[in-house]
Amino acid sequence: MILRQKNKRSVLVILSLVISVFVLVQCMNSVNSEIEQSVSYEAFAGSEKCMSCHKDVYDKHLGTAHYLTGQPATENFITGNFNKDSNSYYYTPDILVQMQKRDSGLYQVIYYKGEEKMAIRKDIVIGSGVMGQSFLNWRQNRLFQMPVTYFTAAAQWSNSPGFPEGKVMTDRPITSRCLECHVTYAEGSGGDTLEPVNFSRDKIIYGVSCEKCHGPAAKHVEYQTGNPAVKTAKYVINPAKLSRQQQLDVCAVCHAGKMQKIKPSFQFVPGKNLADYFILDSVHNSSLAGGEVEVHGNQYGLLRKSKCFTATSTMTCSSCHNTHENQRGEAALFSSKCISCHSSNTTAIKTPTHLLVKGIEQKCINCHMPALESRAIAVYLQGEEKPRAALVRSHFIGIYPDVTKKILSNEK
Ligand code: HEC
Ligand code: HEC
Ligand code: HEC
Ligand code: HEC
Ligand code: HEC
Ligand code: HEC
Ligand code: HEC
Repeated sequence: MILRQKNKRSVLVILSLVISVFVLVQCMNSVNSEIEQSVSYEAFAGSEKCMSCHKDVYDKHLGTAHYLTGQPATENFITGNFNKDSNSYYYTPDILVQMQKRDSGLYQVIYYKGEEKMAIRKDIVIGSGVMGQSFLNWRQNRLFQMPVTYFTAAAQWSNSPGFPEGKVMTDRPITSRCLECHVTYAEGSGGDTLEPVNFSRDKIIYGVSCEKCHGPAAKHVEYQTGNPAVKTAKYVINPAKLSRQQQLDVCAVCHAGKMQKIKPSFQFVPGKNLADYFILDSVHNSSLAGGEVEVHGNQYGLLRKSKCFTATSTMTCSSCHNTHENQRGEAALFSSKCISCHSSNTTAIKTPTHLLVKGIEQKCINCHMPALESRAIAVYLQGEEKPRAALVRSHFIGIYPDVTKKILSNEK
């Protein structure tokens, strides 16, 4: 009897466990679907709303390439020159494209044999200008890439990357993909759900802003504003609290090179698994060995191949980057990140090459993460036969004998 009772009780316990697990799963499902549905324009607060409580982060964010990339094409976001002596690009001796300021905005004006044929307004600028800036133009609710791009390394206007030489193309449509990496959110329609072709002009969150890395945060703003005494956060994601893979995913959505999309990218939010949204492109050992890998945009793929990454369980992008600040050019700071794992006092680090380098504590990245030519970002400059490539820092941390040779010869 007693045994039976016990049995009955355990059946009850199990039953209630099953029920509570069921209820929990239901709850989780509904939380998930709540997040799923919440990625619409209305779920975002906009970065300006963060300023009142996170002023420090906000102020520095305005100086980052993330903020500056993908903004309305107003003068304060454009780096290229509009002055008469340097505002032109000749596609052929007869075809000229000139950058002009007019009352209604900034234009690319196309001339054939001196006669104006078309004036296209720059509506959106893509790129902070570290490497260059491309421009988009609205026609109804579609976006088109404009024929001329600013190439920073040469301080010149050039044809846009991938555009043909010798003829002006004005009808290259901009797909959703372009916006997915250069703005936080754009509400699309038309086409298929993966690649919408129409966009609502007034439902774009410009730049790679706070909410791209912290999730749409209108609810967080509402809650913290309504409960000023509460000093803990609700309805917002801190990547530092996610798993290593999820932390990497926050960045890899835009820094993993070519990926095949299987779900709408703007529906991805930090904390979700990127693998549910994209099939990642893997970097092959053969192309790494042959030096044929595209360094542009695939920091995630390259880093994953590096020994530093595979031999540790903690390395993420945040091991070296604080994305709240503009850290470009701070070689000493980055080298200090290397030294935090590779102490400069150990014998392991006193290699024959290292002993030849003066002030090595500031130079780790010169040899082990060299700036290499991008195959994708290359443009034709005026009067040059071959395309000129932008230099991109390789995230395959390794030993590059040729680069080392060059750097050592400069040391002497
Ligand atoms: C009314 C004040 C207020 C506003 C506005 C606000 N926050 Fe917060 N936020 C807080 C408070 C309070 C915390 C908890 C204390 C802390 O971590 O600073 C917090 C914490 C956070 C955290 C860390 C969360 C964690 O779990 O560690 C993030 C990320 C964040 N906020 C992002 C944002 C973003 C993005 C915006 C703008 C869209 C924003 N906040 C607007 C008050 C605010
Ligand atoms: C929505 C896409 C997107 C996400 C998410 C994103 N980035 Fe970026 N990131 C970009 C783009 C686009 C640029 C190039 C900006 C430019 O110069 O125009 C960039 C530039 C950078 C740069 C160079 C900054 C400079 O000063 O030139 C670093 C470093 C970087 N990202 C790191 C990260 C890290 C780390 C994360 C994750 C925490 C991350 N990014 C998340 C799109 C993204
Ligand atoms: C998969 C994400 C992704 C897509 C798609 C993408 N970009 Fe980028 N883009 C980046 C990243 C990341 C950088 C930063 C440089 C790097 O990592 O090589 C960048 C850099 C740039 C730059 C140079 C910015 C600067 O000054 O540093 C321009 C211009 C640019 N992209 C334009 C475009 C245009 C136009 C499209 C669409 C036709 C596009 N990109 C599509 C991720 C992307
Ligand atoms: C490119 C991605 C990215 C952008 C853009 C970004 N953050 Fe963060 N933020 C992070 C990451 C990653 C962390 C966690 C850093 C770590 O590992 O400690 C973080 C941490 C935080 C925290 C927690 C406290 C701290 O400072 O570590 C707050 C608050 C915060 N961010 C607010 C903001 C606000 C406000 C903005 C916009 C003005 C913003 N973030 C823009 C990636 C980003
Ligand atoms: C989180 C810790 C960590 C950081 C940060 C780190 N590394 Fe490493 N790195 C390792 C580990 C662990 C290994 C593998 C063991 C070894 O060879 O010492 C490694 C291996 C290497 C190797 C040998 C690569 C090969 O293919 O043989 C080089 C070179 C290197 N790191 C350079 C750097 C440089 C330069 C930086 C900074 C840009 C850096 N590391 C940052 C942990 C780290
Ligand atoms: C071991 C250190 C380290 C790690 C980890 C790391 N980076 Fe970097 N990253 C660097 C250095 C060093 C630079 C060059 C900075 C400079 O030139 O000022 C750089 C530059 C960049 C740039 C600008 C590229 C260019 O040449 O303009 C981007 C984008 C970037 N990192 C993204 C990422 C992303 C995304 C991750 C994670 C997948 C990551 N990084 C992880 C050290 C690191
Ligand atoms: C002038 C180029 C150069 C600079 C600067 C440089 N390295 Fe190296 N490093 C090399 C070469 C080349 C090797 C391969 C061994 C050799 O030839 O001495 C190497 C080897 C390594 C290794 C692998 C050691 C092993 O036992 O396999 C690590 C780790 C490393 N470097 C880290 C660093 C760190 C950290 C810094 C900055 C403090 C740095 N390197 C600066 C060129 C350089």
